[in-house]
Amino acid sequence: MNEVSTIRDIRLAADGQRKIDWVKQYMPVLNSLRDQYIQERPFAGKKIVICLHLEAKTAYLALTIQAGGGEVAVVASNPLSTQDDVVAALVENGIRAHAWHGATDEEYKVHINKALDFGPDYIIDDGGDLVSTIHTCRRELIGQVRGGAEETTTGILRLKAMSREGKLEFPMMAVNDARSKYLFDNRYGTGQSVWDAILRTTNLVVAGKTVCIVGYGWCGKGVALRARGLGAKIIICEVDPVKANEAWMDGYEVMPMKEAASMADYFITVTGNKNVITKDHFVRMKNGAILANAGHFDVEISKQDLSLLAVSKRKVRPNTEEFTLEDGRKIFLLAEGRLVNLAAGDGHPVEVMDMSFALQALALEYLVKNQGLENKVFNVPEQLDNRVALMKLHSLGLQIDSLTSDQAEYLAGWVNE
Ligand SMILES: NC(=O)c1ccc[n+]([C@@H]2O[C@H](COP(=O)([O-])OP(=O)(O)OC[C@H]3O[C@@H](n4cnc5c(N)ncnc54)[C@H](O)[C@@H]3O)[C@@H](O)[C@H]2O)c1
Repeated sequence: MNEVSTIRDIRLAADGQRKIDWVKQYMPVLNSLRDQYIQERPFAGKKIVICLHLEAKTAYLALTIQAGGGEVAVVASNPLSTQDDVVAALVENGIRAHAWHGATDEEYKVHINKALDFGPDYIIDDGGDLVSTIHTCRRELIGQVRGGAEETTTGILRLKAMSREGKLEFPMMAVNDARSKYLFDNRYGTGQSVWDAILRTTNLVVAGKTVCIVGYGWCGKGVALRARGLGAKIIICEVDPVKANEAWMDGYEVMPMKEAASMADYFITVTGNKNVITKDHFVRMKNGAILANAGHFDVEISKQDLSLLAVSKRKVRPNTEEFTLEDGRKIFLLAEGRLVNLAAGDGHPVEVMDMSFALQALALEYLVKNQGLENKVFNVPEQLDNRVALMKLHSLGLQIDSLTSDQAEYLAGWVNE
């Protein structure tokens, strides 16, 4: 074990390695980039700090960047999603790691800072914790960090806010906003993994029950699609009138949260916003209502309100807390209101993360090859987005048509033939 890591138990490494070996069989796009990186070593001499959910797929991204010559340190983007055996395997593979499952807020801050002590040239962030720590508490790293890539919707919103205020001090790539990311990861990835986590945590039936999904963005659409497949009746709560119309036309009930509160058996938040379910809603809920969050931070369901309303609370199953209200009604909160699919599951399916993490690797390579970018948020170039999509198609044995030059000219022109 390298002494520069802070992990739970290196003896778990063999279990973690088995998990990594499993996922790498299902990541053909990343495998192909890895083969290329072994030859070209685009990250040689570069220090890279990765802050993502530390499970097997992320581990394979870290190993891919290492295979390209990078020196890598990893830290968790959420203490509940860290898998100690996978982290141990990374350390055995020569990667620095600062993370353990269930780290307290204080420990989590220590881990982030230890990872940053490595002095990264580049970062990969998920939700903005590295970027905000560097810009506030670790300003000596400004100038050292030459850029980074951000994984999720919430992180990009924050980066764009920093950029608008002129506060962003290195370029960041908006990986989430690539089509090969959000159309698959946010929609199908979240859709499947949220239900996987809820089902394995509760062991209850979904068919015939009412599921309220708050937020009909890319993630919400996926969660609704899979809920329909499980036989649920679905209610969508939205604040965006266009998306509310979309939900209605997709065949779902649409109503305000106050109305939905008394009707649903399951509530799933995926807004990226705070306090979308509060005491006004808890007091209307049915006995036995189950609450879960899939948005990035644990602020969507007000845990404070729920604790204040409850006369007692206790853990009734792994990742399940029961809150009893004054009149005896019970409300169950899964995974402490944190990202349910990662805190109570294994996260997105492997094949989906193959595309997202291939984009991360390519975004990093783009930053290394394009020095001197402005301190702004950049989209992943369309060419790289399409490259990932094509590599994915080829890995599936699928071919598609391409435009003839005549068609391309026609589409780019404006004069009728
Ligand atoms: N669980 C995961 O694995 C996972 C994966 C990707 C993204 N995310 C996170 O999920 C969240 C949503 O991501 P997305 O890509 O779907 O974003 P999005 O912007 O596509 O959708 C969010 C939706 O929530 C709606 N909304 C905002 N406030 C609301 C409120 N008070 N009530 C009802 N609706 C409201 C918005 O109008 C929007 O339609 C983000 O925090 C993102 O970082 C989680």
